[in-house]
This record gives sequence, structure tokens and C-alpha cells, in this order.
Amino acid sequence: MLSRTDEKARGLAELPPVQSDSLLQLIALCNADPRADKIDVGVGVFRDAEGRTPILKVMKEAEQILRDTQVTKAYLGSAGDKRFAELLRPILLGEHADDERILGVQTPGGCGALRLGFELIATANPGARVFMGTPSWPNHAPIIDAVRLERVDYPYYERAQAAIRFDDMIASLARAGPGDVALLHGCCHNPTGADLSEDQWRQVRDVVVERGLIPFVDIAYQGFGRGLEEDAFGVRLILASCDEVIIAQSCDKNFSCYRDRVGSLFLKTGNPEASGRAMAHVFQRAREMWSMPPDHGAACARIILDDPELRARWLVELAGMRDRINSVRQRLAAAHPRLAFIGQQYGMFSMLPLSKEQVLKLREDHAIYMADSGRFNVVGMGDHQIDRFTAAVVEALEA
Ligand SMILES: Cc1ncc(COP(=O)(O)O)c(C=O)c1O
Repeated sequence: MLSRTDEKARGLAELPPVQSDSLLQLIALCNADPRADKIDVGVGVFRDAEGRTPILKVMKEAEQILRDTQVTKAYLGSAGDKRFAELLRPILLGEHADDERILGVQTPGGCGALRLGFELIATANPGARVFMGTPSWPNHAPIIDAVRLERVDYPYYERAQAAIRFDDMIASLARAGPGDVALLHGCCHNPTGADLSEDQWRQVRDVVVERGLIPFVDIAYQGFGRGLEEDAFGVRLILASCDEVIIAQSCDKNFSCYRDRVGSLFLKTGNPEASGRAMAHVFQRAREMWSMPPDHGAACARIILDDPELRARWLVELAGMRDRINSVRQRLAAAHPRLAFIGQQYGMFSMLPLSKEQVLKLREDHAIYMADSGRFNVVGMGDHQIDRFTAAVVEALEA
């Protein structure tokens, strides 16, 4: 045990090394590779047929409008842009948009919403356990750990069979108790692309209700899967049956404004007063962490959603991104029977049944960069790279 004086004597130089996020390491490795024809399918952003991550045309226009009309940059407060959160309600909540028990707040991206949501859980009930599927997005575990909530893994996906381990998932959730949290991906599961069917959502809802769990839905890719409405099925089903719900939402993908950090947190309790009290805690936690969210991206999303013409054009651009994702999926699925599963999955990510050695060999021999787990971004590459990618992957599968 260190004495207080010893603790004080510890300098910054004594800090242990950090095991940095493996995906960030992968980006660095890929950037350092001098081969001109390298393929970066480790990246987590949408790329078009030319391999670029474009700024949406409506976003450019909204930025111009903001530039021309914004008259002050005075503080907005911890809630950020309130109109932005209001405009998201029908998109995300659908038939629950007018439910006064559901309150929302702008956050710095989906990450900010996740952190804030788990901060709220930890404030309400530090003894709550968070049931998290495996595999999940690599940043989920660190965010849960950062608020010091106990994390319990539930099996989600079997890569070798390209199948959701649904019975195991349900059995695991059935062991959770009242007040425990079930972390669920709203759509376009990252890293597997394997989404729950509507019937599976109903069964998950049933166990959540029976066990008295708090569902925490992370929806970062609404509109990238089946469609804007279809992708919100799980969120809305859960809202219809559960009194206490947390939803972490991101606009960074569907508005293609990743670095602008646009997201929101929605919470529901059994009555509007309790929701108001919970939201006051959310504001307090936000104030401690970032005080208020950045304005620019959310202001632009608000301008787009508030204008029927811009909104309609956003939907078209969003459909364009979705169509590319789904058409590349079909092309990959047709290349080999062992890739057929890719055509039945949704969103930007799927996992190839490759060993770590095979993944490293693809990197060395073909300059193809993907996560060691075999997770790859189906739209990480431009159209001109798809055949080369597929040929290399098929060669690895058949080796
Ligand atoms: C499942 C999931 N949740 C949340 C996020 C966070 O999104 P944002 O960039 O808006 O913080 C991501 C981003 O990759 C994600 O994949």
C-alpha cells in the first residue's frame, strides 16, 4: 500500500503503456504501407464506388446556410441543439415520437451518447451488470469499464457458421436480473453484420420484460441496412413494451459527418416527471465531461431535417449509400459459396472466416488490411478493387 506521499510522488512518466485500440493500430499500419494498390477494409467509414468518403451534397448546402445565417456562437447549454433532438424523434422513435416519457439530448456522436447512457446507469444503480454480446464493437467494453459497471458477456455470433447464437444469447439474458442492462445493436451489427430478425427481436423483448432488464439500444447505422424505417424496428418494439429504455444514436454515418461528432441520447422511464429527473442527471454528467456538445454538425443536420426539400434530398443520398452497401454485398456473396452469408447481412461490416495468420498473409501478400478477427468493411474499397479483393479472399479460403 502506498502512503499518500508516495502516491503524490508518482509522475506522469510512471504511467504504464496503453494497449491502443487495435483498429487504430490497423489504420496506422495501412497508412504506412507504400503499396499504391493497397485495400483498406479495416476502416469504419462509408466509401463510394471511387473509394472516397464524400461530404453529402445536402450537408455542403446546409453548411453554407449555417454560415450565412448563424448570428452568434454563444453557448447553447448542455442539451445542445434542442431542435435537432426534436427532429430526430419521428425518424428514430416512429409511433413513439410524441411519448412524453421519452426525452432526448444532443451528444458528441454515438460514443458520447453511449458514455452518457452508461454514466446514467452507474449513477442510478452502480450494482447493475451490463450484458454485452460477443463479439461487439471494440469500444463498447472500454466505455462500460470506464464507468465501472460490471460487464457480463453473452454469446452473440458464431463466425464459423455465420450464424447468430440466438439460443445461447437468450439463455444468457435469462440469467440477468432486475435492473441489469441488456446492450443491443439496433441494426447493422458491428462487427458481424448479423442483425436479429423481427421474430428474434420479439423474443429478446420478452426476456427483457420477464427479467426486468433495462434495454440499452445502440443504433449507429440507421438507414444503412434495410431502410430508415425498417432499421428502427427493434428500437420501436422495445419502446412499445418497456418502461425504462436507453437509446444511443449516431448521425455520423447516415449524414456522413463522422468528424463533426453528431449523435443523441434518448431515455424513457415510466412517467414524464421521472424522465425529467433522469435527464437532469444526464445534463449534470454531460457538464462534467464535455459541458456541451459541438454545434456545427448537429446544426447542419437540423437545417437539413427542418427543410422538406433538403430532407428529401438527404433521404436520396442516404439511399445511395445503402444501395452501394447492399450491391457490394451481393457481388461478394456471389463470388464463392463460403461468402454467400455476406448477402444476407446488413450494414458496413461482416466477418470473414479466416484465421489470424490468413488475415496477416492477405496483408503481406496483397496489401489488404482488415481486423485480425476477419472483420472487414464491405464498402471500404472502391469498385475497381472488388475483384482483386474477392480473388485474394477466395484464394485464402481455399488454401
Ligand atoms: C456500434 C457502434 N456504436 C457506436 C459508434 C459510435 O459512433 P460515433 O462515431 O458517432 O461516435 C460506432 C462507430 O463506429 C459503432 O460502430
